[in-house]
Amino acid sequence: MPVHRGGISALLSPRKFHLEIGFHALRAASGRVLSVRIQMDEGRASKWDQPGPLTAWAGIVVTVVELQAHHILDIGPADWPRWSGQIMAIEQECFEPARRETEEHLIAVLAEEGALGSVAVEEQQVAGFCLGGPLELFCEMEWVRQDAELGRRTTLYADDLIVSPARQGHGIGAALKAHQIERARASGYKFISGRYRVGLAEVMGRISRKLGASEIRYLRNSYQDDIEPRDAVYYRMNL
Ligand SMILES: CC(C)(COP(=O)(O)OP(=O)(O)OC[C@H]1O[C@@H](n2cnc3c(N)ncnc32)[C@H](O)[C@@H]1OP(=O)(O)O)[C@@H](O)C(=O)NCCC(=O)NCCS
Repeated sequence: MPVHRGGISALLSPRKFHLEIGFHALRAASGRVLSVRIQMDEGRASKWDQPGPLTAWAGIVVTVVELQAHHILDIGPADWPRWSGQIMAIEQECFEPARRETEEHLIAVLAEEGALGSVAVEEQQVAGFCLGGPLELFCEMEWVRQDAELGRRTTLYADDLIVSPARQGHGIGAALKAHQIERARASGYKFISGRYRVGLAEVMGRISRKLGASEIRYLRNSYQDDIEPRDAVYYRMNL
């Protein structure tokens, strides 16, 4: 009787995928980690046997199930009232005051031509949000004023990316960023630039680097609060 590694069989067949969801629910309900053996004869019967140690594929099953749980919706100003309460609550949870955006600011950016806003939704709940707008909208910032692309209408400035703390670490932030890149490319932008806080937003740095970003400036004392470090990285990615 072959033992099938959960994540792989889940990807190969919808029927097996449902079986794996069942196993996952059982594991969650029982609070125990089971080693699962699927009996493949006729493709119907399945059973699990003795409790065993945590195995690598158990984690993979969870990831497969959860990755499929969200979808990304593009939003404009007319959609804002529907999602704003949840977005602002996540904004509050995610950021220390120095990085928190006001609702007025987000609405103003979203209303601009060339703005790109999206939400990641799971079961009608916002799990994440991202927003960018033309670089020229952000020229009150010193690092934007120093950007050689300013005035050329080539660059989307990544203004905000947040994932609900309860849903972080499940690929939603990376999916929103990859989606933003695709939309920016389709909208005719040549670059995306943005700033992330050293220390507090290293995951953002990781996502951006994996998607092709490189540092163009290191910004010392970029945030005016008493949390160390106060530095940021200004990055750019070519589309
Ligand atoms: C930054 C943020 C949007 C990332 O979203 P996320 O959904 O948690 O990130 P993902 O699950 O897509 O993870 C992306 C990568 O970071 C890694 N990662 C995620 N959380 C991590 C953690 N706490 N520690 C270390 N690595 C982590 C993931 O393993 C993944 O790496 P991989 O691509 O090599 O597998 C989210 O953490 C967040 O909202 N943070 C607070 C707000 C913030 O700082 N926003 C950035 C503004 S510049």
